[in-house]
Amino acid sequence: MNHPLSRRAFLQHAAGISAGIGLNILPLRADSAKTFELSPKPGRAQLVPEQYGDTAVWCFNGQVPGPELRVKQGDRVRIKVHNELDEATTVHWHGIRVPNSMDGVPYLTQTPVNRGQQFVYEFDALDAGTFWYHPHQQSSIQVGRGLYGALIVEEPTPYPADRDLTWVLDDWRLARSAEIVDDFGHRHDLSHSGRIGNTVTINGKLQETFDVHAGERVRLRLINAANARIFALRFGGHDPKIIAMDGHPVTPHSPENNRIVIGPAMRVDLVLDMSANPDERHTITDDYYPNRAYALTDLVYSNSSVRDRPPDLKIELPPNPLAEPELNAGIHHEIAFEGGAMGSMGGAMMDGAWQDIRTMAHDGKFWAINGVAATGHIMDPMLTLERDRTYILTLKNRTVWPHPIHLHGHSFRVLSRNGEPTTFREWRDTVLLEREDQVKIAFVADNPGDWMFHCHILEHQASGMMGVMRVV
Ligand code: C2O
Ligand code: CU
Repeated sequence: MNHPLSRRAFLQHAAGISAGIGLNILPLRADSAKTFELSPKPGRAQLVPEQYGDTAVWCFNGQVPGPELRVKQGDRVRIKVHNELDEATTVHWHGIRVPNSMDGVPYLTQTPVNRGQQFVYEFDALDAGTFWYHPHQQSSIQVGRGLYGALIVEEPTPYPADRDLTWVLDDWRLARSAEIVDDFGHRHDLSHSGRIGNTVTINGKLQETFDVHAGERVRLRLINAANARIFALRFGGHDPKIIAMDGHPVTPHSPENNRIVIGPAMRVDLVLDMSANPDERHTITDDYYPNRAYALTDLVYSNSSVRDRPPDLKIELPPNPLAEPELNAGIHHEIAFEGGAMGSMGGAMMDGAWQDIRTMAHDGKFWAINGVAATGHIMDPMLTLERDRTYILTLKNRTVWPHPIHLHGHSFRVLSRNGEPTTFREWRDTVLLEREDQVKIAFVADNPGDWMFHCHILEHQASGMMGVMRVV
């Protein structure tokens, strides 16, 4: 099998071999990696009830979502990706702190994997939590057609819940035939709120009901795999507690205003006690977009209860081994996000030359970060960060659109929003900036390499809202 090693991976490989020779013994150790195989390929999925027909999708191993990969914290993980699509692809392990060469960014960290080729990803699962995987090549199309899956890293000691469930949320733009509307890259989507669809699925299905039992405790891992849709979920009459965000533990707390807001790529882990009575039915609603609220699914209680009241167990998760930012010694930078419809951006740098907004729009570019609109994954770094130093970034959304901003290779603490300190200083890898928001984040730049920093509304990413941070 053809195994394309990126130049960087090849150099590391070569260095490894010579180190081995220097020691005079090749380091042989038992291969204990947890190994998985993923094949992105075309398939069909029953997203909507059968009478409406099924849908041509692109998916991992013939299923939407792709298989849930489950490992334990500390495991070595190896994933063999064999591309059976008609175009090149990569796989990015969203939120996982991997070595740069395993990050799955085309051209920047690896050669894209062509049809019929294989690429082997390998890394240690340093952090426990809820993560996910998706291509980073033509993301708007490839993720939008169904290429994504959950990657769950379990804590060393099992979490005390009756059920540990994952809900991968997605939003599809389907025609009456149930086929995906093939208008990817539509200028209106690029310049406004991204590709918002008309059909929301949980784990690849439009789910009208979800069976539960009175008294049970569910750990619910929510993953937003949609290109652009932001969710704000209300669990009608229930009191979910947020225990983790983007994989990382947070002080357990009830969501602000009873709404769980999840932008694209973000994850929220909940402890959900089924506190209603047997035979009841409660609707989970999503009301993020004003005047467009809808029912996501109904919690349908069985006729018996598993216990009288929720278990009296600690719900806090153990922390992950993340380097704590030294705020007093932090180096400050400002990062401005500009552009989009109803914006005031006059133009931006594109491939090294300033272009006015009309020329940009002609090229399908509508957004910029610090005055630069990305045209591909290779670009000069917007910031070069010194390894192991703390950075405090003020992210300024100078647009009238929300943007979930994602940094690769690191997680960061969210320190403040519009001048107000956050209550929990949560760790995240993706932070949602509402229109005109200013958010301060801090992290230790402890993972060397070139890392993408972009909006995870995939149409915004594709139309310029992307940059590179270099850690040296
Ligand atoms: Cu979820 Cu740059 O990716
Ligand atoms: Cu955006």
